Amino acid sequence: MTSTSNRQILLIEKPTGKLGPEHFKLSEAAMPEAKDGEALLRVRYISLDAANRAWMHGATYRSAVEANSVMAGGGIAEVVSSKAEGLAPGDIVFADTGWQDYAALPAKHLTRMPRIEPLTYLLSVYGIAGLTAYFGLLDIGKPKAGETVVVSAAAGSVGSIVGQIAKIKGCHVVGIAGGKDKCHWLTAELGFDAAVDYKDGALFKALRAAAPKGIDVYFDNVGGEILEACLPQMNNYGRIACCGAISQYDGAPSATGPRGVPGLIVVKRLVMQGFVVLDYMKERDRALVDLQGWVASGQLKVQEDVIDGLENTPKALIGLLAGENRGKRMVKV
Ligand SMILES: NC(=O)c1ccc[n+]([C@@H]2O[C@H](COP(=O)([O-])OP(=O)(O)OC[C@H]3O[C@@H](n4cnc5c(N)ncnc54)[C@H](OP(=O)(O)O)[C@@H]3O)[C@@H](O)[C@H]2O)c1
Repeated sequence: MTSTSNRQILLIEKPTGKLGPEHFKLSEAAMPEAKDGEALLRVRYISLDAANRAWMHGATYRSAVEANSVMAGGGIAEVVSSKAEGLAPGDIVFADTGWQDYAALPAKHLTRMPRIEPLTYLLSVYGIAGLTAYFGLLDIGKPKAGETVVVSAAAGSVGSIVGQIAKIKGCHVVGIAGGKDKCHWLTAELGFDAAVDYKDGALFKALRAAAPKGIDVYFDNVGGEILEACLPQMNNYGRIACCGAISQYDGAPSATGPRGVPGLIVVKRLVMQGFVVLDYMKERDRALVDLQGWVASGQLKVQEDVIDGLENTPKALIGLLAGENRGKRMVKV
C-alpha cells in the first residue's frame, strides 16, 4: 500500500446460503479526502460482529449492506486530518468506518472516545459488546440475587460479559456454548456455575441439570432451537432479553419459529423483550463506571481475539459465524 491509496474489502455479492470468501474482494481506491464538516480517519481496529452477516439480509436497525460496496462495519479509528470543529489529529473515534484503511466521514457520525490502553477495550468491554451485555441483562433481564440466569453464545463477546455480570449480581449462571473446551473455559476461567454444550445433542436435558430450579432470566443471543429449549424451562414471571438471533443469520431463515410462542409466554407470564443497544447511548456513562470498576477489581475478565491484517477480515467473520472466537473478535488494520 502506498500512502495515496486505500485498501478496501468489498462485498461483491450478497450470499444466499452460507457466507464464504468468494463474496468478498480486496481492492484499492484513492485515498479519500475530508470535505467541510468531515474528518479523515485511519482505521485501527475493525469490530467483527455476528450482525455484519445479518445486515446482508436487508435493513435492520441500520440500512442493508449492498453488493459492490465497501463492507460495512464498526471500528476504532484515529483522526489524521480534520475539517470539522472539535476534532483534531490524534483524536480517537468509534464509527462505521467500513472494512478499509481510511475513511472520510462527517463528524456527526463519529463518537469521540477516550485514548485508553489497550485501545481494543473500546471495542470489547467498553464498546458495543460490554454495553449490550450491561443494558440487556440489567435493564431487560432485571436479575435478582439467587435467581438463575442462562445466556446463549456464552463464550462470545456479549455472552461472556453477560455471564460475568450476572455472577457479580449474585445469580446462578449457566452458559450455553459450542464444544467442551469453551464450556470448560466458561466455568474454570470466567466463574460460570455451569455450562452446556449445545452441540452435544442433549440440550434440553443438560439444561435441566444445569438449571435445576428453572430459568428466571434467559439472555438470548441465538434464537432458534436454543430458545425453544429454554422456553419450557422458564419460571413463572421470567424475563427473556432478546439480544440477537445468530442461529438465523448465516443461511436461509428456518421455516418455523420456536414452539411455545405464545402459549408458554402466556401461562408462565413471561416478559420477552427485544432491545437495541444504540437506544441506551445516552446512559453509557453509568454503564462505563460499573464496567471499569469491575475490570479494575478483577471481577470482570476481558477476553479478546485480535486477528492481524485487513486482508483477513472476511475469513475472520466467516470463522466467527462458525464459532471460532472466544470473546470479542476484531481485526487490527
Ligand atoms: N441487540 C443489540 O443491540 C446487539 C448488540 C450487539 C450484538 N447483538 C447480538 O448479540 C449476539 C451475540 O453477538 P456477539 O457479538 O457476542 O457474538 P460473537 O462474539 O460474535 O460470537 C458469536 C458466537 O455465536 C455462536 N454461534 C454461532 N452460530 C450459532 C448457532 N447456530 N447457535 C448457537 N450459537 C451459535 C458461536 O459460538 P459457539 O461456538 O458457542 O457456537 C460464535 O462464537 C448476536 O446475535 C448479535 O447480533 C445485539
